[in-house]
Amino acid sequence: MTSPTLIEHIRQTEGHHPGATGELSRILARLSLAGRMIAQRLLNAGFLGEHGDTGQINVQGEVVQKLDELADSIFVRVFESHPGVCGIGSEERSKIHAYDDEESKSGRYMILYDPLDGSGNIDINGSLGTIFSVHQRDDIRGAVAEGDFLQPGNAQIAAGYILYGPATVFVYTAGGEGSVYGFTLDRSIGEFFLTHPDIRMPETGGSYSVNESNEPKWNDDVKELVASYRQGRAPVGERVARYTGALVADFHRTLLKGGIFMYPGLSDRPRGKLRYLYEAAPLSMVAERAGGASTDGKIRTLDLQPTELHERCPLFIGSRGDVEYATSSLE
Ligand code: AHG
Ligand code: MN
Ligand code: MN
Repeated sequence: MTSPTLIEHIRQTEGHHPGATGELSRILARLSLAGRMIAQRLLNAGFLGEHGDTGQINVQGEVVQKLDELADSIFVRVFESHPGVCGIGSEERSKIHAYDDEESKSGRYMILYDPLDGSGNIDINGSLGTIFSVHQRDDIRGAVAEGDFLQPGNAQIAAGYILYGPATVFVYTAGGEGSVYGFTLDRSIGEFFLTHPDIRMPETGGSYSVNESNEPKWNDDVKELVASYRQGRAPVGERVARYTGALVADFHRTLLKGGIFMYPGLSDRPRGKLRYLYEAAPLSMVAERAGGASTDGKIRTLDLQPTELHERCPLFIGSRGDVEYATSSLE
């Protein structure tokens, strides 16, 4: 018996999600379509002169890669005239994008996403990812506004990511009593098949993952915390260091093998680099649903209340024991 496809699985588990209307299933199916389209684009980009940057600087102050823009345009298209989705918020767009066709305008759902995570890995053929977060708004009268998107991660309806590595993997959780599910793409037929039916974050062991070149910019508590991992001191014990430059890849390893990923605040960037709504919050929902944890060094990441679309936050995410140890070391 072959494993269920993503669509079959979504239908089978639809009843697990509080208030399931079938709309969320259609959105997850669309997200998997965007993932397959981006995966295909990445495969051929090198031949099509689509590596390299556009010469533009985005709202993050970062140079926009051609594939950042291409991946973003795929998301905009995939959710155009999708009746349930009233608007999207993207790492690559300074403002939210509200769909203006009649059906979408009164949609309840909003998608926040990082279309291509780890863009620094494009030209070196390293792992890349897409991160998505699904929210809903209570008041569906009138066009959606930025304020509708500014919700804490604990309000997410669903969250997940797509990892473009040697294989393309789609991971999501839809809250309720649902678990964290992983699917692997069979490129030959363009289908995602269930390969990880119930992902659980290992309690101990695994790697520690942090950009150690930032050490001079950490405060003393963070320096001491990372040193305890580097030296394998009790209670963390012997660990390996792993850091790919792509959050999705570092998180996926942490999710499957255990350990901790850290992006602390820096002296010149106290809230750190990673963005709350479409990087930290969705991955924190996945981490918690898999038995892990996530904080900003003090507060549970899912309880943070964003005040603007591209708000950043420090991130300590991984095995529950590791995150509790890190957070207690920083309080
Ligand atoms: P993006 O490519 O979407 O801008 O994200 C890059 C992020 C994240 O993927 C990664 O963990 C982090 O930037 C790496 O930052 P440093 O190079 O500062 O370590
Ligand atoms: Mn990113
Ligand atoms: Mn990105």
